[in-house]
Amino acid sequence: MSNPTKPVKWVVENPNEKGVFWPSEELKRKAWVTDEKIYEKAAGDPIAFWEERAAEGLEWYKRWDEPYRWEPPYIKWFIGGKLNACYNAVDRHVKAGKGDKKAIIWVPEPPNEEARVLTYDDLYREVNRFANVLKSLGVKRGDRVGIYLPLIPEVQIALLACARIGAPHSVVFSAFSSDSLHIRLEDAEAKVLITSDGYYRRGKVVDLKASADEGIKNTKVEKVVIVKRAGNGVKMVDGRDYWWHELIEKAETFCEPEEMDAEEPLFYLYTSGTTGKPKGVIHTAGGYLTQAYWTTRWVFDIHDDDIFWCTSDIGWITGHSYACYGPLLNCATMLVYEGAPDYPAPDRWWDIIEKYGVTILYTAPTAIRMFVKLGDEWPKKHDLSSLRLLGTVGEPIDKEAWMWYFNVIGGGRCPITDTWWQTETGGTLIMSLPGIGPFIPSIAGRSFPGTRHEVVNEEGKILQEGNSGYLVQLPPFAPGMFRGLYKADEKYRETYWNRYQNRFYFTSDGARKMPYNGIRATGRVDDVMKVAGHRLSTAELEDALNRHEAVTESAIVAKPHEIKGETPVAYVILKEGFQPSDELTKALVKHVDKTMGPIARPERIIFANELPKTRSGKIMRRILKALVMNEPIGNTMTLLNPESVEELKQRVGYKGPD
Ligand code: WTA
Repeated sequence: MSNPTKPVKWVVENPNEKGVFWPSEELKRKAWVTDEKIYEKAAGDPIAFWEERAAEGLEWYKRWDEPYRWEPPYIKWFIGGKLNACYNAVDRHVKAGKGDKKAIIWVPEPPNEEARVLTYDDLYREVNRFANVLKSLGVKRGDRVGIYLPLIPEVQIALLACARIGAPHSVVFSAFSSDSLHIRLEDAEAKVLITSDGYYRRGKVVDLKASADEGIKNTKVEKVVIVKRAGNGVKMVDGRDYWWHELIEKAETFCEPEEMDAEEPLFYLYTSGTTGKPKGVIHTAGGYLTQAYWTTRWVFDIHDDDIFWCTSDIGWITGHSYACYGPLLNCATMLVYEGAPDYPAPDRWWDIIEKYGVTILYTAPTAIRMFVKLGDEWPKKHDLSSLRLLGTVGEPIDKEAWMWYFNVIGGGRCPITDTWWQTETGGTLIMSLPGIGPFIPSIAGRSFPGTRHEVVNEEGKILQEGNSGYLVQLPPFAPGMFRGLYKADEKYRETYWNRYQNRFYFTSDGARKMPYNGIRATGRVDDVMKVAGHRLSTAELEDALNRHEAVTESAIVAKPHEIKGETPVAYVILKEGFQPSDELTKALVKHVDKTMGPIARPERIIFANELPKTRSGKIMRRILKALVMNEPIGNTMTLLNPESVEELKQRVGYKGPD
């Protein structure tokens, strides 16, 4: 146990190399993995390495017949193996006598409301009952279930209940609009939706049911289960809508888990790509769970006495893997907080860490940058000495934010593991393991044992230290990798595999090879933005804007933002008969809120008569970006309409580079 007056130092700085931190002896004594040879050993026979991991980490009804198959571009792992995700996350811990252990400490947003604790026994009971509820609503193995819930314990219960009966879940982030929900439910052809009446955000009740009602119109959703969270008196539709608490009361207490094939889908999670519509990323049980289990264990060095807090919403892959499956598979205790980080005051998170003794914190650089801005006095009010490990995810972290996180939150004692990964990869893939290190600001680290990533150039040549290029994964591909895009096979090939003719998995990220086998991920090289850590596509946002009656064409550029990392700026061309005005700007912003959700809201809307285009008619986004950033514009003479740039300079208020 850590002593609050003299907390353990988990890292040491190399005196000869400032800014390079290594695990201390104390950390090495505790950590699961400390020997660097693990990398070499795993690389020697990655398939055998993962077979060992799968066998040791999970309980299987039947062992696989074939460990790995690569039929370009289709990845398969543990073929013929049978298991159940829910059984592995809950039942086996209860059977092992750990039913009393806390699984979830749930902290509601209203500060005067009591936290709710669910032990593994509680989780077992709730999951079994809800699995029976789903069955009674007609959900069968293979049927998709939509989940549109805030961060309340029912969300983990719902995911696990789906997994128990073999019905893939498809979670839609609760802050997404009804239109976004609609697109996803329609594509997934979900029969049942699980939602809540409302939830709390900064003290106000958000009416989620209203969005859900709107979103399910003209979809295949026949039944809706509603969790009563905010008590905001929603209208129920007879024969379609059911209260969770009423259904659960009547449900049987045991539901036999389905014996699922390792390669059967566990869930579909929609994510933004380079085209207008989000795509359903498919994850299957065997490989995904193996990676979720081992990355949670080794990357966060999770132990029996840890309290692990991953701050991500369940609507993102980070929430799926590290606020549900990973920790639960490890029989860990996780903390889940419902609300806004700065409510009722900017020290809410630090208050939670102190109060519940959180030992591992996993969050996004955007949150860290926000806290930097709010000032050191907020964390300084609290004793954060329970923390022993910090993690980040979702976007590149700059040195300043890293050092602040390290010093102010970690007290200069805790390693920071900067984890690079994607919705497609299912689990973290590039990072420094706590017991091995080193921890260096702005370098994610090296490939997780048994996986290999490289930085390559356009032709696919592997680049050496000091060079920048594209980040790729080499075969054998990690078990947690997605198995495709739902109903979009061509897109799957095109986006990830064609570029390097199936030799590598193309991540769409830029990267730089660094010392200590390190990789620095530098951001997307496609039209995907990371806005406050959330993945958004410029094409999707353009699509949304173009659907407004006043808009004929639009172009989105991602502008760097001090806190959010990036923020969308919109160029809009109006239809005949519409004039630029403040009202129209407001109407367009409202339209984006409604069609996508406030997270996609453009920071600025610039009205234009024309957009700069190449002779083949392609919008020159590079110029649009240079304009908002006051960067050099370069030669415009090759454009179809060079005069458009002059007009835009006026509209944007372009000052040019200083
Ligand atoms: C970015 C989030 C730098 C990257 C888990 C990737 C990162 C995209 C890091 C995937 C990191 C994620 N450093 N960039 N540690 N982690 N990214 O699908 O651009 O929401 O392609 O998954 O986030 O975003 P997604």
